[in-house]
Amino acid sequence: MADTSYMARKSVADIVGSAGEEGSQALSKTLGATSITAMGIGAIIGAGIFVLTGTAAAQFAGPSIVLSFVLGGIACAFVGLCYSELAAMLPVCGSSYTYTYATLGEIFAWIIGWDLILEYAMGAATVAVGWSGYIVSLLHNVGISIPPTLAAAPGTVIKLADGTTATGIVNLPAILIIAILTTLLVLGTKESARLNNIMVAVKLTVVVAFIALGMFFIKPANWHPFIPANTGEFGNFGMSGILRGSAVVFFAFIGFDAVSTAAQEARRPQRDMPIGILGSLIICTVLYILVAGILTGLVPYGELNVPDPIAKGVDAIGLTWFSILIKIGALTGLTTVILVLLYGQSRIFFTMSKDGLLPPLFARVHPRLQTPHLSQILIGTIVAIVAALTPISVLGEMVSIGTLFAFILVCGAVIYLRRSDSDASRPFRVPAVPVVPILGILFCLLLMAGLPLVTWMRLVVWLVIGMTIYLSYGRHHSTLRFPERR
Ligand code: ALA
Repeated sequence: MADTSYMARKSVADIVGSAGEEGSQALSKTLGATSITAMGIGAIIGAGIFVLTGTAAAQFAGPSIVLSFVLGGIACAFVGLCYSELAAMLPVCGSSYTYTYATLGEIFAWIIGWDLILEYAMGAATVAVGWSGYIVSLLHNVGISIPPTLAAAPGTVIKLADGTTATGIVNLPAILIIAILTTLLVLGTKESARLNNIMVAVKLTVVVAFIALGMFFIKPANWHPFIPANTGEFGNFGMSGILRGSAVVFFAFIGFDAVSTAAQEARRPQRDMPIGILGSLIICTVLYILVAGILTGLVPYGELNVPDPIAKGVDAIGLTWFSILIKIGALTGLTTVILVLLYGQSRIFFTMSKDGLLPPLFARVHPRLQTPHLSQILIGTIVAIVAALTPISVLGEMVSIGTLFAFILVCGAVIYLRRSDSDASRPFRVPAVPVVPILGILFCLLLMAGLPLVTWMRLVVWLVIGMTIYLSYGRHHSTLRFPERR
């Protein structure tokens, strides 16, 4: 008999079993620690480092944005371990939505699924705005000028070259990139592992080149004061500025959670998953710290609040060809991240729709293309509208708070499942449970505390909207609670 309570939860055995039934033939266990690390780097490096480092340094932390990255990296390390355990234990779709369904029950699963829209769809919008900043800058290099007001959200104040200011109207390049990538996803163009490797190589090359060349042009005077004095307002420089900065640049680390989905393909999950997740996190953290240090050494931090801060750093070096190379590299990197996020969003909706929590439309697959075309188009349309009309700072903070919230539930799920399903097979086990998950929760809460009240309010409103949708749709259609309605 079905459990019709809101707390109904899927059993671990059912989830693992259904993964087999759905014919997701045993995936070959071919991934070693190096490939998993490369995957991680591919998913991680994006708008966080290419855009938000500059804007967060200019607005919140100054050169001490370097310390913000250290804090963000530590939080993600604890969470990364928790993701590894759940991913290896519940090798389905791999999202925290699934983990929550098995632990805290349906209503929490819905909340997390709804919350993940912030990470994936809003994340895609954020990176698209970053992409827009770099394409406008690159086109400018080759003599094509896009009016700045048509590449910024309404209300954004833009400083023009002649010293005057203008106000943004709409971000057209952001719409363009979302439209192109949505089309590719609808047509079923899959990123091949080879293409991904090339993109990762391009991204890494430009980041390393920036570090290698940039370090010779640093003006140490730009690093003083390293921690600018607080202006009297929480989050505006000083210690609280470092905290606010880390909550914002936390965005730069998002993506390592996607790596956890490779758990079932890892040759030796117990060894390779933590090496892969922590390895990619450590490499990215080191690169981020170096980039942030060099960038704030090249350009006075106050001047970094621009759509293409890394390019601004390169301009300070004075090598035009290098500046163009960096922009091409940034655009490549940003493109892959948007693609992964848009793809991930449609697949999460697919699973939620199969569970009856979203309308069947989201699970409909095009007979020939074999892609969830309607869902992908709907997602693309909404993401494009949001990207066209919202400034990157607002988007980035929403993504950060939403993802941190999801991470807290994931850490909690590890502790819960160790008690409720102590016998389940765990190819990878988080060390020192419950200490590590609790530290993960505390660090995520700390970063969330760095975000302003208005961002918290937006999260609450978002969750209330989600709850309304669940109460009016999901709870009546859940296939777990009402199997006969399927
Ligand atoms: N970490 C990814 C980025 O920075 C989401 O774009």
